[in-house]
Amino acid sequence: MSGSTDAAFRRQAVRYGAPAVVSEMVAGEALAAARPDVVRKTCRHEGRGLWIVQLAGRRPEDMQRGAEILAAAGVDVIDINMGCPSRQVTGGNSGSALMREPDLAVRIIEATLQGAGAVPVTLKMRLGWDHDWLNAPEIAQAAVDLGVDLITVHGRTRCQFYKGEADWAAIRNTVEAVSVPVIANGDISSVEAAKAAQQASGAFGVMIGRAAMGQPWLIGAIAAAMEGRDYQTPSLAEQVDGLCEQIEDSLSLYGDKLGIRMVRKHVAAHIDKVNLPLDHHLRRSLRAQLCQIDEGPRLIANLSALYAGQDLKVAA
Ligand SMILES: Cc1cc2nc3c(=O)[nH]c(=O)nc-3n(C[C@H](O)[C@H](O)[C@H](O)COP(=O)(O)O)c2cc1C
Repeated sequence: MSGSTDAAFRRQAVRYGAPAVVSEMVAGEALAAARPDVVRKTCRHEGRGLWIVQLAGRRPEDMQRGAEILAAAGVDVIDINMGCPSRQVTGGNSGSALMREPDLAVRIIEATLQGAGAVPVTLKMRLGWDHDWLNAPEIAQAAVDLGVDLITVHGRTRCQFYKGEADWAAIRNTVEAVSVPVIANGDISSVEAAKAAQQASGAFGVMIGRAAMGQPWLIGAIAAAMEGRDYQTPSLAEQVDGLCEQIEDSLSLYGDKLGIRMVRKHVAAHIDKVNLPLDHHLRRSLRAQLCQIDEGPRLIANLSALYAGQDLKVAA
């Protein structure tokens, strides 16, 4: 997810057992121009797990060049983005806009595969452009014929953006159209939802996005439940340890000033979701105070002190 699944966050997700994590999307063109902010998004995370980078673009030659660069860097998997609804992306015929232009979509997939060489390529998309245009199965089939190894479908159309509810059952048409694993995505925020999504869609597995913000162990917990394994939810002390590690990683990745800005949304999401007996007002005020701290070490010290004594005040 753009702005969220940086290497600092992905490290936490795999620390708690996520089987696979994907980078923020990067534009092939910007990668080819070696823009430092874009190259940074492709960073490998610390810890276990495959190095998966997502590419977006509207020109086949940029996708090919982007894939060549990623393959040369040694990534394990390249994922093509045909799911982003942002006008900034779709206005330029990339992201989910490509689902309305299947010929261009095919050329983009071909070019990416060419650039990737032996590196496996996967494809993420939506159900279609709108409900009159549900062509995920056709695009998936074409992609698999060209050599794509796995498909992820977010159970909404482009025109829905993030509104309404993801339609997991509608993903089944894609599952039945292809011979490779399909991953169901959209609104999965619990073990129960994951199981329901898998059952409704017949998918091989599920992908978790927004719900993992502030609780990166959710992915490991869901993976364990789906495989019938026990899972020990991290204690509060472990959660804080992980959050502090993420803050430190964020400062190293972006530098002090930008690092603290980038990690704030994760701290805020943690406070929103952490299982503590906080009423709505106290939670809001804690979150606001923590998010005003503009130095990493002070933020870490405050979080540590806060949880050590469970003294729910933020020191100046
Ligand atoms: C802020 C934000 C950024 C996103 N960035 C990406 C992205 O870079 N690539 C991508 O494939 N999907 C991206 N998505 C879509 C999510 O990956 C996911 O498909 C969607 O949010 C539905 O799943 P969820 O309900 O589990 O979040 C983004 C979503 C949000 C809210």
